Amino acid sequence: KPIVLSGCQPSGQLTLGNYVGALRQWVDMQDDNECLYMLVDMHAITVRQDPTALHNACLDGLALYVACGIDPSKSTIFMQSHVPQHAQLAWIMNCYTQMGELNRMTQFKDKSAKNITNINSGLYTYPALMAADILLYQAKQVPVGEDQKQHLELTRDVATRFNNAYGDVFTIPDPYIPEVGARIMSLQDPLKKMSKSDDNQNNFVGLLEDPKKISKKIKRAVTDSDEQARIYFNTSEKPGVSNLLSLLSCATGKPIADLVPEYEDKMYGHLKTDVADSIVAMLEPIQAKFTELRQDQTELNRIMASGAEKAQVRAQQTIDKVYEAIGFVASP
Ligand code: TYM
Repeated sequence: KPIVLSGCQPSGQLTLGNYVGALRQWVDMQDDNECLYMLVDMHAITVRQDPTALHNACLDGLALYVACGIDPSKSTIFMQSHVPQHAQLAWIMNCYTQMGELNRMTQFKDKSAKNITNINSGLYTYPALMAADILLYQAKQVPVGEDQKQHLELTRDVATRFNNAYGDVFTIPDPYIPEVGARIMSLQDPLKKMSKSDDNQNNFVGLLEDPKKISKKIKRAVTDSDEQARIYFNTSEKPGVSNLLSLLSCATGKPIADLVPEYEDKMYGHLKTDVADSIVAMLEPIQAKFTELRQDQTELNRIMASGAEKAQVRAQQTIDKVYEAIGFVASP
C-alpha cells in the first residue's frame, strides 16, 4: 500500500480549516493506504508556547484525531517528539537545504513579520524539519491544505537533489489537496486564511467549541457588501460568501454548483443559518467522541505508545539508508 503521512501543529485548538482542509482527507485515505498521522510538537515550538497549553493541546489533538475518525487500528498515530529520528533526519536536511530556498518561504516571511521578538533559527529551518517528517517514511502522498503546497515543493526539490547525488534514497512525495475546502478563510477577514493561532477568536471556529458559540460566530461572519446581495461563488468578487459556500459544501457533501441555485432568491441570513446548522451537525458527534476519549488517559497512552513504536521502526530504516548514502560509518 502507498504510504501517506501528515500532521497538525498543536499550537492551539484545531479549527474547521484543519478539519476540512486536512483531517477529513486523512480519514478517507485510511483504507487504501498505509497512513501515519502525527502531532508536530517540534514544529509548534518554533513559536513560543506556554508549556501547560502545549501539553494539553497535544493530548486534545490526539483525542481529536481519533474522534474525527482516524482509527488507531488502521493508522499510526503519534507525537513527533516520540520518534527521535525526526530530529536526526532534520539535521541532515538542514545541510542539504539552501538558505536561498528558505528565504523564499512565505510562511517564514509571514510569521517573522508578525513576531519580530522571536525570529529563531527553528522558525527559519522549519521546512527542513517538515521535509524530514515526510521523507523519513518514504511517503508518497501528503494530504494538506493549500498553504502547505510551498513546503511540499521544497521537500520535493531537496529530495530530488539528494537522490541525484546519492541514488534512490527517498520517495518523491506528492501533495494531496482537496478540491473544495483547501483554503478556508477567516470569518471576519475572508481575505486571509482561517488560523488556530489568530489573536481574534471570532476569525476561526475551533473544533471543540460550544455549538451555540459556533453558530454565533458563523452568523456574524463578514459577508460581501455589493449592491445586490446575491449568493454565488467567486472568491475574488465574493470572498465571504464563497467561504460560506465552501463550508456548506464540505459539511453537506453537496457540490458548490448544486448549492448555488438553492440560494437564488434567498438572503445572506438564510445561507448563514444553513452553514451554522450543518457545521454544528457535523461537529456534534466528533465532540461527543472527543469528550469520552479525552478522559481516558490510559487509552490515549496506549495509542501514542503503539504509534511511536511502529513509526520508529519505519523511520530507522530510512536513517540507516541515509547515513550509509552520505558516508557515515555504521555504529558497530
Ligand atoms: P497546520 O498545523 O498549520 O495545519 C494542519 C493542516 O491543516 C491545513 N489547514 C487548512 N486547510 C484549509 N483551510 C485552512 N484555513 C487551513 N489551515 C490549516 C494545513 O494545510 C495542514 O494540512 N507545516 C504543517 C504541519 C506539518 C506537516 C508535516 C504537514 C509538519 N510536518 C509533514 C504534512 C506533512 C502545518 O503547520 O500545519
